[in-house]
Amino acid sequence: MKALILVGGFGTRLRPLTLTLPKPLVEFANKPMILHQIEALAKVGVKDIVLAVNYRPEVMVNVLKKYEEMYGVTITFSVETEPLGTAGPLALARDILAKDDSPFFVLNSDVICEFPFAELTAFHKKHGGEGTIMVTKVEEPSKYGVVVLKDGHKSQIERFVEKPRIFVGNRINAGLYIFNPSILDRIELRPTSIEKETFPAMAADGQLHAMDLEGFWMDVGQPKDFLTGIGLYLASVHRKNPAELAQGPHIAGNVLVHPSAKIGEGCKLGPNVCIAEGVVIGDGVRIKNAVVLKNSVVRDFSWIERSIIGWNSTVGRWTRLEGVTVLGDDVTIQDEIYVNGGCILPHKSISACIPEPQIIM
Ligand code: GDD
Ligand code: MG
Repeated sequence: MKALILVGGFGTRLRPLTLTLPKPLVEFANKPMILHQIEALAKVGVKDIVLAVNYRPEVMVNVLKKYEEMYGVTITFSVETEPLGTAGPLALARDILAKDDSPFFVLNSDVICEFPFAELTAFHKKHGGEGTIMVTKVEEPSKYGVVVLKDGHKSQIERFVEKPRIFVGNRINAGLYIFNPSILDRIELRPTSIEKETFPAMAADGQLHAMDLEGFWMDVGQPKDFLTGIGLYLASVHRKNPAELAQGPHIAGNVLVHPSAKIGEGCKLGPNVCIAEGVVIGDGVRIKNAVVLKNSVVRDFSWIERSIIGWNSTVGRWTRLEGVTVLGDDVTIQDEIYVNGGCILPHKSISACIPEPQIIM
């Protein structure tokens, strides 16, 4: 089978992390975001993966080439010279997507869930329409694409409304699709939106179906949602592979600790914490609902809550970080500093408290 992952866009909402790495390579639960998707695709037998990129492809090529052998897949970079939106990239990759009659997957690169691709394929084949989109229910549908089902029909979509201004329903597009190659006849090679152009046309033709996604789902493209997503993801690991989670008297709730990380005496970690490769945590540190990325150091008696510590950073002693504080790469927070909702750009050193949300550049 084949798949295309949409990895364009500048990831502005995930700054300062995306100033250092493209969004799909930012580690979510100690693994590049996109690797969660590649693994799930490989597991259902996908062999050809197209990455639709429109900026900094070099960085991604270097990192992802090594996964080809690991997962037995061919990864092709389809590079846009101008951003082609969410549908144009399908036309650009037509040669690969249409090389046989079998359906193919299309994924937004910033969504995390259990990726039930086998169930999606079976469902799609059963209804026989041209496309199936996975849907999930949310409380705040206005920032997503919303699906309205045909009256009395279990899966056929009557209307698709992207970012609705008025309430039309709470079943939203989860950003995971499967299509028959015939969809390519609807898409021209130009900047175009699958949500605004292709889906409404398919719905009008009665060719678009929805399948309810079981389990958790999150678009992790901004810090607050990223942290919420970590909690949901770790809860799912707890249900399915509890042995992957950290154990011990210093652990409270679901916590992931890379085997190479060093944790000091008298710490308390959790719930919903991820500690990456090479991280060093001092003594008496308290961390909850937070992520510490590769090779960072958190010194003694610090308190970190609802925050993301970027790579190679140092958090001083007796500091307190909270309120969705995000440190970029190589940031230093001096001893005894308080930061609430700070967005600290790479290579900064912070020696004064930041009591209110602020961007430091
Ligand atoms: N190759 C390429 N080229 N990819 C792009 C481009 C482009 O020009 N523009 C956006 N993308 C990719 C993004 O990287 C992301 O993976 C995906 O397309 C969706 O773009 P977002 O910018 O993340 O859109 P959104 O989150 O506002 O809304 C989308 O996702 C929601 C679910 O998270 C829509 O598909 C909504 O309908 C959906 O509910
Ligand atoms: Mg998104």
